[in-house]
Amino acid sequence: MARARVIAVDGPAASGKGTLARRLATHYRLSFLDTGKLYRAVAARLLGAGLDPNDAVVAAEIAASLEPDDMDRADLRSERVSQAASIVAAHPGVRSALLNYQRRYGRSPPGAVLDGRDIGTVVFPDAEAKIFVTASLEIRATRRVKQLREKGNKAIESRVLEEMAERDARDGSREVAPLKPADDALVIDTTDLGPDEVFHRAVGFIDSKGG
Ligand code: DC
Repeated sequence: MARARVIAVDGPAASGKGTLARRLATHYRLSFLDTGKLYRAVAARLLGAGLDPNDAVVAAEIAASLEPDDMDRADLRSERVSQAASIVAAHPGVRSALLNYQRRYGRSPPGAVLDGRDIGTVVFPDAEAKIFVTASLEIRATRRVKQLREKGNKAIESRVLEEMAERDARDGSREVAPLKPADDALVIDTTDLGPDEVFHRAVGFIDSKGG
């Protein structure tokens, strides 16, 4: 079977990791998987059925029975689903149910760029290149507010910042697969960098690995 290349892009919300990961996938002609969507889909199905995201057993059952349509739900990016996704993502049963899907996806030729929180540390510790994208909380909240307003949503910056800090704390302190850079990841702080500069740094790093 042809070799599959895997590039891991991790980082907190609104760090720019999705933009970078998509662009890298196009550049290297690889598939792209936004793994946050899997956790969001589990959360949206739970909330839609009136269930509690803190219920680890039910959440793991839903994760094990995800359907492709669940990833296309219109409500995946709502604030309610974002918070619930971060809650369900802390359940070990949910993470292990989603692990195989992510690994199968990445290992299918020609390979993939996956973006998430634990791609370089847990899902693909042997990825060809790992990039950890980060930025200050303030700039990430400002970016998220801009995105929300562009979509016609009213967004209060202090509230967005508070919710993002809450999610960062939960994602970074959970016992299984917490958000943290892999030891061999290139860390890019995008606080003062534009998307082109971030992309060029990432490509320089990946190409230096001789992929
Ligand atoms: O990247 P995102 O904001 O769409 O992710 C939503 C939530 O899913 C995030 O708060 C934590 C969780 N997540 C995770 O735990 N591991 C991943 N690989 C991707 C997302």
